[in-house]
Amino acid sequence: MKTEVKLKLGVNIDHVATLRQARLDIDPDPVQAAQVARQSGADIIVCHLRRDRRHMQDADIVKLCRLKGETHVEISDDAKIIAAVLKARPTSVCLVPERPGEVSTEGGLDLVRNGKSLAKTIAKLKKAGVEVSLFVAPEAPAVRAARNIGADIVELDTSDYAKTHSKPKQKLELERLELAAYMAWEMGIVVHAGHGLDYHNVAPVARIPHMSALNIGFSIVARSVFVGLKTAVSEMRRAID
Ligand code: PXP
Repeated sequence: MKTEVKLKLGVNIDHVATLRQARLDIDPDPVQAAQVARQSGADIIVCHLRRDRRHMQDADIVKLCRLKGETHVEISDDAKIIAAVLKARPTSVCLVPERPGEVSTEGGLDLVRNGKSLAKTIAKLKKAGVEVSLFVAPEAPAVRAARNIGADIVELDTSDYAKTHSKPKQKLELERLELAAYMAWEMGIVVHAGHGLDYHNVAPVARIPHMSALNIGFSIVARSVFVGLKTAVSEMRRAID
């Protein structure tokens, strides 16, 4: 029987590194941020190693993966990036689409167009002992395709939900997420969700049955400017519990 587990909070620390890279300095250190986030209620430390290295650097990933606890790295299906994460050995990775110049990830993977290549990458990562998540739209075909090519986890894209401010549309988007989460759980896939979640919109997503983790970055780091990272993470922890 599948049992329900406590919802995990994944804290994405990319934008701590964004600030550091603004001056190409050593502070603020994302590894120190990861330690503070863990002490304040983060179950998973999340980051994105981008091809353009605009925030996290290869050495950051290596150091983060040496810390105790779960580390989850978002990556594109790119041979050099995959080689870098295999050197660091995170607990898990999330394969995401990555368009040069994008401000942030723009929607889920196209599993029809890229399914074959992704299947090979998934097999390679799993063989190395790294769990694999796929960032997908909260739709049945995407969840099914993710299962068929060997994903351990699906991360349901919450950006349509997060961008919507009308109550009826929010309700529809939540229903999409609920249905996709249920399908994934039925198929034995671990369910994550994320993108665009903040202190105001997170609670209904946190209540979706079968959700295993929420991955949240920008809103937490933005709030930390005013209240500190410790408080910002604790507040998000309270918002999802
Ligand atoms: N999940 C995925 C797949 C992402 O690419 C990102 C952004 O790095 C997040 C979650 C976190 O999104 P946000 O920073 O809007 O909370």
